[in-house]
Amino acid sequence: MRDWIGKLRTLLIFGSLVFILSGCGRDNLTALVPKGYGADISMQLIVLTTVIMTLVFIVVMILLAIVLVRYRKKKGDKVIIPEQVEGNKTLEAIWTIIPIILVVIMAVPTVFATFHLEDDSDAPEHINIDVTGNQYWWHYDYQNEEISTSQDLYIPVNTKVYIHLIASDVLHSFWVPSLSGKLDVNPENVNTMYIEAYEEGVYFGKCAELCGPSHSLMDFKVVVVSEEEYDQWVADMQNFDSDDLELDAVAQEGKELFEEKACLSCHATDTQDYSAGNVPIGPDLTQFADRSRFAGYLEPTKENLVEWIKDPESLKPGNLMTGSYPELTDDEVDKIAEYLLQLKPSEVTAESKEENS
Ligand code: CUA
Repeated sequence: MRDWIGKLRTLLIFGSLVFILSGCGRDNLTALVPKGYGADISMQLIVLTTVIMTLVFIVVMILLAIVLVRYRKKKGDKVIIPEQVEGNKTLEAIWTIIPIILVVIMAVPTVFATFHLEDDSDAPEHINIDVTGNQYWWHYDYQNEEISTSQDLYIPVNTKVYIHLIASDVLHSFWVPSLSGKLDVNPENVNTMYIEAYEEGVYFGKCAELCGPSHSLMDFKVVVVSEEEYDQWVADMQNFDSDDLELDAVAQEGKELFEEKACLSCHATDTQDYSAGNVPIGPDLTQFADRSRFAGYLEPTKENLVEWIKDPESLKPGNLMTGSYPELTDDEVDKIAEYLLQLKPSEVTAESKEENS
């Protein structure tokens, strides 16, 4: 009976592992398929350490097997005390020096890679983006382009992009597994890293530091586009003015409600200048309808948006929007949602990249 339970347990563990691990292979979500410079370096270090550890394991196992087979007590053998090697200087030197050499082989490239990835001396020649982590969303400020957005971070392919990270409230951690390693986002100081993506496409990003009840929903995307598309996107964002939109009657009413009901006091719908580190209270919604997600993980459908405006707390516990605006009727929510879904400044979107990749 016990045997049977043991077998079942093993089967269940391995069975569930198959399901869990098969999720790890999802495109652009794993550090094991690097598509950017930092992730590439991390992968080389992972391979190096894994090879060394595996070799050590194999050698130790072979020695252990030899000792167990060759020197075990056989029938009829006398009971003897084997030769004692305690204090043997040669042996002790060997098993001290070998691990030191192995640790040095792993440490030297790791230290070099760390310093290399941290070096931002050529930052002024490249794209610089201030990224602010907030509970539970990301704000992006493109320093030279003078545009701001949130949720989807647009960058050109094969280009160094410097990310300057700061938090407005608590600790967060910026992590795009396929493109680079994690970097802490602190309220006190700016941490800088650069990312360089090798392939166009949409990459998953996560907050990797427990920051509150909705930490796991603080997702974002990095949308890697061609250089031409990037220029196009920047121009579209710079030139977008929500007052120029041709809205139908419902959306127009929504726009007015958006102002009346105090939405506008936290959310901009045009490109704003947030320079000098002024981060809006809520995400900038300039390209709301172009986004791949909103609130970190929700698809920008009318249904989701209506549900969100009605009760953000049920979808993202602990967010700042809950209770910060007057009660809205179903009709008003519907109109505001209609309006937000008109905010589409550019043809260059995450969706257009997903179709290509
Ligand atoms: Cu921000 Cu976890």
